[in-house]
Amino acid sequence: MEVLKKHRPYKVSNGEGFALALGGVGAERAVRSTGRRQAPDIATRSGAEGNAQQRFKGTPSNASRVRPATLRGHAVFIKNPQFFLAKSRFILYDSGNIRVDTCRFYGGFYMKVLVIGGAGYIGSHVVKELMAKGHKVTVFDNLSSGLVQNLFPENEFIAGNILYTDDIDGAFARGFDAFIDLAAFKAAGESMIKPEKYSINNISGTMNILNAAVKHNCLNMVFSSSAAVFGEPQYLPLDENHPKNPTNYYGFTKLKIEEFMQWYDQLKGLKFAALRYFNAAGYDPEGVLYGLERNPANLLPVMMEAACGKREKISIFGNDYPTRDGTCIRDYIHVSDLAVAHVMALEYIADKKESITLNLGTGNGITVTEMLEAARRITGKEIKAEYVGRRAGDPAQLTASSALAKKTLGWEPKFSDVDTLIGSTWQAYRKYFGL
Ligand SMILES: NC(=O)c1ccc[n+]([C@@H]2O[C@H](COP(=O)([O-])OP(=O)(O)OC[C@H]3O[C@@H](n4cnc5c(N)ncnc54)[C@H](O)[C@@H]3O)[C@@H](O)[C@H]2O)c1
Repeated sequence: MEVLKKHRPYKVSNGEGFALALGGVGAERAVRSTGRRQAPDIATRSGAEGNAQQRFKGTPSNASRVRPATLRGHAVFIKNPQFFLAKSRFILYDSGNIRVDTCRFYGGFYMKVLVIGGAGYIGSHVVKELMAKGHKVTVFDNLSSGLVQNLFPENEFIAGNILYTDDIDGAFARGFDAFIDLAAFKAAGESMIKPEKYSINNISGTMNILNAAVKHNCLNMVFSSSAAVFGEPQYLPLDENHPKNPTNYYGFTKLKIEEFMQWYDQLKGLKFAALRYFNAAGYDPEGVLYGLERNPANLLPVMMEAACGKREKISIFGNDYPTRDGTCIRDYIHVSDLAVAHVMALEYIADKKESITLNLGTGNGITVTEMLEAARRITGKEIKAEYVGRRAGDPAQLTASSALAKKTLGWEPKFSDVDTLIGSTWQAYRKYFGL
């Protein structure tokens, strides 16, 4: 395992460089910091002593009487945040003690988060969102499909492999409040030809992660699950209770990991959010992230490659489905909406100490032909397409009900309209290829 320094010049505006106003009995002993040059100056309420949890219980209004502390340049971590008011309102000050912002999440404190697979397509967007919310991020990745270009210079990067227990154990030994597990192989078709590859990386790799996490008492986890756990839909939109009968081995690996997490919850106190993404698409609308996936197989990147002249045409698998134009209907969810859901889910489980499993989609199905026509309109390019036969195991229609995600987290997609999905992807391709 190697800890590397970061590569990419990028500035994110987050809590760093601010002082954090906080208060509470025992704050000094509970606060831990990383790499802080100055000793922390944490304000505690006068006269308050003893057990913070007992004293604060049922007295949320006391939270307003905190005094500012001057912590410059680094995030603040609270080892046992439940000792502080989960619903408190904390105030951020800049270094001149001028109030600049307020935050209200996870008791007002930032978490130290290990993002495994954080150099990948979805992982890098999750990292960006975590940073925007002020969390302190370390990325762990073997760059098998992840990109150095997706790393942020502000973050520590651990080049390691989840298949090597020393690597993942060494990473967790550095001390984290939470982790997000995105590292996996994801090609459903390939998983049917090489199941052993998926058994090893997706199942054995995740078991290594789970075991290292519980060993080092890091018990808040967000897991990249998939709509592939459901298989052929029996009704639409698919809600969380829909029967799970994966039709490919990749979906089976995700379902098994969901079950392992449930056991680790019961036996080890792991709290997890299993997020079942539908069709992830789009790129960072701010244009900061534009590291293109290598050998993409999904519709949007394939269309963009055709628009850029990197491939001659696209293949559309089947135009005789019982849908409005004969092509498959899918539920495309913007990667930035997914990223927001990860951070919300993480803060939720850390706060509530309760595991959740959520479908993440829009509920709106779009046909392949509708996507193609929108891509031609937005890019102004011809994008040649040919209709070929159906692919085995492709259901005619897949759409998600995300009512539970909305109810539980208050999450709603904001970037998942067709124009933003395609526009942000086109922007990334143009930037990457200098068009
Ligand atoms: N992209 C989608 O539409 C989609 C849909 C549902 C679920 N998912 C899941 O989301 C997760 C992220 O997907 P993505 O689209 O960002 O894929 P990705 O390939 O871009 O990201 C996966 C990351 O994990 C890393 N990784 C893989 N094996 C590793 C190992 N052994 N050790 C360390 N790092 C390793 C890769 O280098 C890469 O950075 C995956 O678990 C995938 O199954 C993706």
